[in-house]
Amino acid sequence: MDTYPWSDAYATGNWVIDTQHRHLFELANLLADALVRGGEAAEQAMAALDGHVREHFAEEEAFLAAIRAPSLARHRRVHASLALDVEAMRFNLAARHPGVEDQLARWVEASLVPHMLTDDMAAIEATGGKGSRPRPAAAGECTL
Ligand SMILES: [Fe+2]
Repeated sequence: MDTYPWSDAYATGNWVIDTQHRHLFELANLLADALVRGGEAAEQAMAALDGHVREHFAEEEAFLAAIRAPSLARHRRVHASLALDVEAMRFNLAARHPGVEDQLARWVEASLVPHMLTDDMAAIEATGGKGSRPRPAAAGECTL
């Protein structure tokens, strides 16, 4: 059972963004499990989440910039804050500070999910479906 189960209610309808959001949840779940075990597995899972958070935010911001989304500036600020939270979690784990599990739970439930449900949903809604289809190569179709 996943600590942070994915819900269809989180889907924005943009295939690329939803795929990356699902991956964020997978990595948050891996991290939650790894934190119970501790040690190197936890550090690796934290690094994977941190890396994907940065990549995903950069890609989402590039998409919003490409379609000239009016919410881009605000969206960037929220992303910066979310990324900083992950950096703080990573620091606390490396420093062996207690409470990283609770920090992760707060990040997912009180920061990430509300961001997806409000900012991401509104931004994608405003795109009118631009960029919402699967990438042909990723969907396994022939691109020749
Ligand atoms: Fe976002």
